[in-house]
Formats: sequence, C-alpha cells, structure tokens
Amino acid sequence: MDIASRPSEPVENPKVADAAPAPQSPPVIRREDYLAPAWLVPQVSLDFRLGAEATHIVSRLSVTRNPAGNGTATLRLNGDQIAPLAVRVDGREANDWRLDGADLLVELTGEAHEIEIETSVNPAANSQLMGLYASNGMLCTQCEAEGFRRITFFPDRPDVLSTYSVRMSGDKAQFPILLANGNCTASGEGEDGTHWAEWHDPWPKPSYLFALVAGDLVANHATFTTMGGRKVDLNIWVRPGDENRTQHAMESLIASMKWDEETFGREYDLDLFNIVAVSDFNMGAMENKGLNVFSTRYVLADPETATDGDYDAVEGVIGHEYFHNWSGNRVTCRDWFQLSLKEGFTVLRDQLFSAAMGSEAVKRIEDVRVLRIAQFPEDSGPLAHPIRPDSFQEISNFYTATVYNKGAEVIRMMRTMAGPERFRRGTDLYFERHDGEAATCEDFVKAIEDGAGLDLGQFRLWYSQAGTPQVTATLSHEGTTATLALTQTVPATPGQSEKQPMPIPLRVALYDRDAGEHRGEQLVVLDKAADSFTFEGFAKPPVLSINRGFSAPVAIDFPRVDADLVFLAAHDDDPFARYEAMQGLVVQHLVAAVSGRLDDATRAEGRAAIGAAYAAVLAHPALDDLMRGELMILPAETYLAEQLAISDPGAIHAEREALKAWLGTELASELRALHDRALAVAYSRDAAARGARKIKTQALVLIAAGDPAEGARRAFAQYQAADNMTDRQGALMVLASLDAPEREQALADFHRRYAGNALVIDKWFSLQAGALGPRVLEQVKALAGHPDFTMTNPNRVRALYMAAAGNPRAFHAANGEGYRMIGDLIRRLDPINPQTAARFVPALGRWRRIEPVRAAMMREELERIAAMPSLSRDVREQVTKSLG
Ligand code: PHE
Ligand code: ZN
Repeated sequence: MDIASRPSEPVENPKVADAAPAPQSPPVIRREDYLAPAWLVPQVSLDFRLGAEATHIVSRLSVTRNPAGNGTATLRLNGDQIAPLAVRVDGREANDWRLDGADLLVELTGEAHEIEIETSVNPAANSQLMGLYASNGMLCTQCEAEGFRRITFFPDRPDVLSTYSVRMSGDKAQFPILLANGNCTASGEGEDGTHWAEWHDPWPKPSYLFALVAGDLVANHATFTTMGGRKVDLNIWVRPGDENRTQHAMESLIASMKWDEETFGREYDLDLFNIVAVSDFNMGAMENKGLNVFSTRYVLADPETATDGDYDAVEGVIGHEYFHNWSGNRVTCRDWFQLSLKEGFTVLRDQLFSAAMGSEAVKRIEDVRVLRIAQFPEDSGPLAHPIRPDSFQEISNFYTATVYNKGAEVIRMMRTMAGPERFRRGTDLYFERHDGEAATCEDFVKAIEDGAGLDLGQFRLWYSQAGTPQVTATLSHEGTTATLALTQTVPATPGQSEKQPMPIPLRVALYDRDAGEHRGEQLVVLDKAADSFTFEGFAKPPVLSINRGFSAPVAIDFPRVDADLVFLAAHDDDPFARYEAMQGLVVQHLVAAVSGRLDDATRAEGRAAIGAAYAAVLAHPALDDLMRGELMILPAETYLAEQLAISDPGAIHAEREALKAWLGTELASELRALHDRALAVAYSRDAAARGARKIKTQALVLIAAGDPAEGARRAFAQYQAADNMTDRQGALMVLASLDAPEREQALADFHRRYAGNALVIDKWFSLQAGALGPRVLEQVKALAGHPDFTMTNPNRVRALYMAAAGNPRAFHAANGEGYRMIGDLIRRLDPINPQTAARFVPALGRWRRIEPVRAAMMREELERIAAMPSLSRDVREQVTKSLG
C-alpha cells in the first residue's frame, strides 16, 4: 500500500475561521520555563472503533486540579492534526471550549471533572508514523514523544501520569489480535463480524507510553518466573510466517529479565509482557508499558537472514526496551529536557547487559567506536547540545547520540568513580526514591551522590556543558619519578562560549618497558584546567597507558613515538587500550599523511610500524578471533576527519584506501592463510565460530584492497559457499566495491534469493549504497528507481540513503552530486515523514569542518532546503541551526 500518495488531510477547524500560516521559525521551548501541570488526569478511559481509514476514538478523562499547579481554570489539552468532534464536561455537551492553535482549551469551574472528547483519525493516511498508523495491514501506535496528541486531545507531557483503561473493537478478520498496555480484562464478539477487547494497565503512566496494536499476528510464547515468584507470560508477536525467526529475541528477553534482577535488583511488574514487530517504524523500538513495539529488524533473526551483528543488535535492543520498564516507565521523565535520564541510563544498562552476555572487551570497543563516529561529530558541530539540553524547537530532533550515548558515558563515569557496588547502592536509592514519579537528571545525580557516597558537585557540569573535552598529556621522567602533566579544555559550542573544567576520571597505568608490565592501575581525576600526578620507582621512562577502558568520553592528545604504540598494542593488559594503541598508530600516520607532513621516508617508516603491529595481531596466539577482528578494523574516515580542524574528505579517503592496499599487499600471505583458516570453521553461534566469521570478512577486505582479482575470486567463493548471512553479506560487501564480473552476478543472485524478505532487501540496498568505487552515486540513483524502493518505509529510505550519506566517497563526491542527492531527498521526504527527513540534515551541517570548495556546495544545499515555502518544524530547526 502506498500511503505516501495520500497526503494527510487538512483538519477542519470549527472554531478558527482562518488558521494562521505556519510560522517561519517554530517557537523555542526552554528548560528553565518548566511549569508544573495545572491539571492532573488520574484516570483515562479510551474507546477505539478501529478502521484502517477511519478510527473513531472516545476519550474520557478524570481531571483534578493540581495543588502544585498555578491554579488556572483552563485545562489545556494538546492536539496535532485532529479536530474535536464532541466535547462533554461532566456528561453535558460543553460550550466553554476553544482552540488555541492545535490545542483544545476547556474552562472548568470546580476541582474535579469528567471530560469526554470524540476524535477521528485516518491511520492509512498517517505517513509520519506518529500517533495511530497502518503498517502492512495492521494498526499500531507510536506516541513518544508527542504522538498521543495525534490520537486524542490530552495533556501530552510526561509529568501527567494516568491509569489507562482501553476498549477496542474492530473487524475480527482484519484485526484478529487486539493488544494494549497492561492486562486483557475482557473480550468478546460483536455484531457483523466484529470483536472487542478491554485492557487495563494498573501502573500510572504518561501518555507517551500508551500503545495499541491490532492486526493479524502470531506469537512465540514463553514464560518467565520472576525472583519474587510472579509467573509472566511472554509473547513476541509477528506476521504469520515470521514466527520461526523469533527464538533469539525470546532468549534475549528472558536473559534481560534475569540479568536486570541480578544486576540491578529490578523485577518485572505485570503478568504479561508483549513485544510486537512492525515493518514501518521511525526508530529502533519503543518501550510502551507491557507492550513494546519494535522495528522488525530488532526482532527477527535466523542464520540464513541475519548477521552476527544483527543478532547482537536484537539482543541489545530487546534488553534496552525491557530495561526501560524501570528506567523510563516506573521512573519516567519530568519533561523532555530530561530525556537522558531514561535514555542515557538505559543505554548504559543495555551496554552492561550485552557485555555480560558476550565479550566485555569487544563490546566496549564497539560502543566507543559508535560514540566517536556518531557523537563526537555532534559535539563539534552546529547541533552540539549538552546531554540535558536547555532548549529545543522539535523534541524529535533530540533523540541523539549525545543524549543516548554520551548520556550513557556520563553515568558510566559515575560508576567508574564509585565502583559497581556503591553505584548499585545509588541506583537502588534512585529507584526507591522516585518510583512512580516523573523525575529529573538532578534527581538521578542526587540519588547516586547520596547512595554511592560521591561528591558530584562539579560533576554536574557534564549535564550542562556540551562539547568533547580535549585533554593533553605529557609524561616526563627524572631520577626515578615519572610525572604526568594533564590539561583540559572544553571547546566552545553554539550558545556556550565559556566553559569550566570538568572532573575527568582517567584510568592510567605506567608500564615498565623492560618488564613489559605495569604496577597496578590507578584512577586519576583531572578536575582542573591543568594538573600533574607523580609516580615513583621508575629507573627508566615508563610507557603510559591512559584512559584505559575509555574511562572518560574525551579526546586525548598525547603524541608518542610509534615504538610506544607498538609496545602497548602488544603488551597492554587492558584490551581497550590495546585497540586504542593500534588505532593511534594508524590515526597518527593517516593524519600526518593527509596533512602533507609525510615524505617518502617517513611514510615508509609509518607503514612499516603499522605493518608490524598488524602482523602481530594476525599471528598473536593469545587473542581470540572476535578481538583480533576488532583490532583489524581501520579507523573510520569520519573519525579521521574529526582529528582535523578542516578536512579534505577526498584526501582522507585516498590515504586510507592506499594504506589498506599496502597492508593487503604486504601481508598477503598471512591474510590468505587467516582467511583459509576461518573458512574451515563450521557455522555455529559460539564465540569461536563468530570470531572466525569476523576475521574472515576483515581478511577479505584487506586481500581485496591489495589484489582486487584475488579478492573477487575469494569473495565470490565465500559468497557461494556461505551457509549463513554473516559470510554472505561480508562477501557481497567486498564484491560490491569491486569492478569485477562477479559483482553483478552475486548482487543479482542475492536479490533473487531473498526477494520478498524486506530486511534482507534492505541489506541489498545498503551494501550497494555503501560501496567503494567511482560509480556509486549513479548506482544509488538507479536504486532509487528500483521497484523495491519506497519513500514511505523508513527502513528502506535509511537502507539506501543513510548508507549513501555515510559513504564518504559518495556523499563527498567532488562535484557536489552527493550533497545534491541528500538535499533532494530531504526536500522530498519532509512532507511524508519529517522526523526521518530531519535525520539527514546533520550530514550537510558538517560544512564548516570541510575544505572550502565542498563546504560552499554543502551550504548551498542547506540554503536550498531553507528556501522551501513550507518545511516541517523538524527540518526547519536542523537546517536553521546548521546554517547559523
Ligand atoms: N524511547 C525509544 C527508545 O530509546 C526510542 C524512540 C523514541 C522510539 C521516539 C520511538 C519514538 O527505546
Ligand atoms: Zn531508550
């Protein structure tokens, strides 16, 4: 069904004759303007008469005056593209209401009233996927952050908590399964082939956690008995035919429930936990109380269609949404500025969970890689904001790597300083103090402070200051004393020119060069602009291992000789530090190369050091293959660009590719041996076999860089022999970047083999859009016209265009065509799905950090968007800030 061709209908507004034209600049909402709600809604009952094209909703609210509010007699109920068909107060048709913009205002005389409102929506026409919408024949809701107001008029803010009773009725053949939050309390048959169900959720919640799903679904069912003895029914609902791809999700859910009991003492609180997979979804998944809604890609997995990375992602997201039941639902956010309260904490919880389920070291490296690729650029660009922002125009734009991933790093630092046991005392206190409340980041910090016994006075700056702190380190040595001198600067960011020093906890160790060992790790906290720390007992200058485990989300500037990095890459007992040494070696070399600081001799020296470190990684018997694969991955081009004030993406790409080709040639025989060894390992989900698959593809990448013909031959063989998606996708990724006859053959085979499997066809789009090679832009344009492509499915749009926007060769094409392509996309997508459209703006917003010729073209593209006569709030905010 093509819902894009049907624009959402303009709402008839009965009381405002001439609606004012949309303002050019949407109003700014400020954290400091927070006011408690004037009215509370202890109870809500909702009645849905479901229809794909028209759903009728009757909403009954019990409202009471909030003693902590400002006493106004006006009840403000938010709305968005809906009209009140009827408004009743205490059972009578009300006259005392009016519309203020999209909001409904009702004048009330007493302390408590019953409000009844009727609305009607068209789910099939809802291409924004916010509120109630149709996906693949089913109906589902998405309410975070402000989607509930697209269903009915309501104080749609997270500090209004209500108990919900929901009744829904609809055609039984079309919607055989009817789900909402909480427990099903009654159900039955109606007239004319309809049926109905009533659901009740005993836990008060804000409207953003409301959910309803109706459709033809089948469940994978299991049970879990909680530590307190509650038997919980678990269901993972999918479309018929997909049920045999849900086992991994179910195992992940059970593991999450168990882990949260053991690690955080958190027990599940309903008799039922439902997960529904939908194919049209703006984000990854949503933690609605007792009824999580997931994008199919984070539920469905089997070896034939999901890679090892996909399995990990399913486990991580299932965990994340489940953990929200406490960090998000039982304790929610007072207002959207506090988003990191639930998201930063929940990301930390899912990171710790995944680390416990697999390799802690590899998980940490992956998390840091995401932070550096996605968050560091936010911090150093025009959209930089603190993890607790001070203002916004459209809250959807603040579901960012800063709020989520840096938010998690900030809480992780508290945990590092307190240690896990004391941190746990802090989180226990937090849950105990704020259960059932809408809390603030300050409440969280205070609870950790009190529970863990930490002084977090200065630490609170991490919540208010944006920007990645830059730390410089120098190590000097005299007699037997080593002195570590540290400085910090927090760069200026939009709206924050002056910054104060923050406490930066750094795990450090000093290595005795001859012994190859250190004398114990220490935690030093740099809380001034400059400070120094001494270490006794070193006859010779030691080797410094700093920010081990990435204990602080900062950039460290500590230039060192290659020999020291090679030493750490080989000896450091902190696996992250080892990875960091490898990365440092390559980053230092490539940054010098693109800055024109290498002559032939120094280039050869640098390569030799990298080659030696790589050879050691390939051969090292003590490394497991998962870690080996991690160490083989070269730093990303975006991360390299971050190291330079102004960068030339063309030069970065060329230098990085040249190094890859050199490594592939230099280590050809080792890489082929490694590839052969990995090919011989049979498929299983255990760590050894997953490690083998990881190095298999990493080896292939380097082999192909050194010898494209050999790479094509091996990749095609790997593709054909593959009995799992990890090997198949890895091989196809390498082939997609080669100009070889095998390329077309494999791509065509892949498409044929997985026709109709949306998640795998997404991969087919992504692999091509992310490929190297001179014709990638042409290919992306052709793919946009492919019959499988659609602008109405965010997964598909992201599969093609996020891959292209994240492919430096395509996006930064010297003639500006990549920028034009993304600009065109934003303009076309904005009227369909503004939330998704806005997510493409930051790529263009990086222009200030790019060489002037490209920068001018990027800016021009932003200006072209800004000049559009009508733009969503989402895109308007991002574009204005990016130009600003
Ligand atoms: N709250 C969801 C999560 O982090 C993300 C989300 C936000 C989903 C907004 C949909 C809409 O788990
Ligand atoms: Zn979340």
